[in-house]
Amino acid sequence: MTRWTQQAAEDYAAVGQQTHVQIFGSRLTQMMGDLHGAKALDFGCGPGRLSMAMLQLGAAHVTGIDQSRVMIDTARHEAEQAGVSNRLTLAVGDETSLPASEPVDAVLCSLALMMCETEQRLRQSIQGIMQSLRPGGCAAITLTHPCFRREPYPMFCYEMPTDYNYFEGGTPYRVHIQSADVDREAIIVDHHWPLSMYMQALIDAGGRITNVMELAAAYDDGDQPIGPPAYLAISASRES
Ligand SMILES: C[S@@+](CC[C@H](N)C(=O)[O-])C[C@H]1O[C@@H](n2cnc3c(N)ncnc32)[C@H](O)[C@@H]1O
Repeated sequence: MTRWTQQAAEDYAAVGQQTHVQIFGSRLTQMMGDLHGAKALDFGCGPGRLSMAMLQLGAAHVTGIDQSRVMIDTARHEAEQAGVSNRLTLAVGDETSLPASEPVDAVLCSLALMMCETEQRLRQSIQGIMQSLRPGGCAAITLTHPCFRREPYPMFCYEMPTDYNYFEGGTPYRVHIQSADVDREAIIVDHHWPLSMYMQALIDAGGRITNVMELAAAYDDGDQPIGPPAYLAISASRES
C-alpha cells in the first residue's frame, strides 16, 4: 500500500492538480449529472480537489473519506484555505467505513480503486460505494485505463513488472507522475485489475452502467485528445 508521507501527499496535490483534476473536474457534470443541492461522497478523496470541484458545481455538502490521515489533513488545510470547511466533512476511513450513515445523491471515487491490493478489497469498496447511494443516485468511478499500461503518456509513466500479464489481477506497479508546471514528481504504488473485474464488481454491486468515457492525459485547445487513452470514467446508478 502507498504510505503517504507529508512530502508525498504535498507532491501528489501539486502535480495532481496539473494532470487529472482539470480533466475530470471539467467533466464532473457529464459523469455525475447535475450536482446542484446534492449531498455527495468522495471516496478516496486524497487532497480533496475534486471534492471542492463538486462544491463549486453546486453540491450542498460533500463528505470526503480517505484511508490516509496525511491526505485528510492535507484536504482539511486546502478546504480551510478555500473557505469551504463548513460544506466539506473530512474523515479517515476505508471501505469498511461504508456505507456512510445517510444515503447520498452522488458518489465520486477517483483514481483510488487501483490502490486495492486484493480482489476482496476492490469488491468491498465498489459494494460500499453503491450502498452509500440513495436509490436512483449516481456513482462515478475513474481509473487509470487498465488496457493501456505500456503506452507513453505526457504526464505520467508506469513501471510495469517484466512478467506483467493483463489477465492477472493484483499485479503491483509504480506510477511516476510529473507535471510540466511543477518541478516535482509523485510516486505511488497501484495494482493492475483487468477491465472485466471492475465492470463485473460494479454490476454485482447493483450498479446500472449509465456512462463510460475514455479520456486522454492531455487535451489541446480544441479539446481534442493528445496521446492514447489514459483514464476510464464509469458512471453507474443505483437501481433500488
Ligand atoms: C491517487 S489518489 C486520488 C485522490 C483523489 N481522489 C483525486 O482524484 O485526486 C488515491 C487516494 O485514494 C485513497 N485510497 C485508496 N484506496 C482507498 C480505500 N480503500 N479506502 C479509502 N481511501 C483509499 C488513497 O489514500 C489516496 O489518497
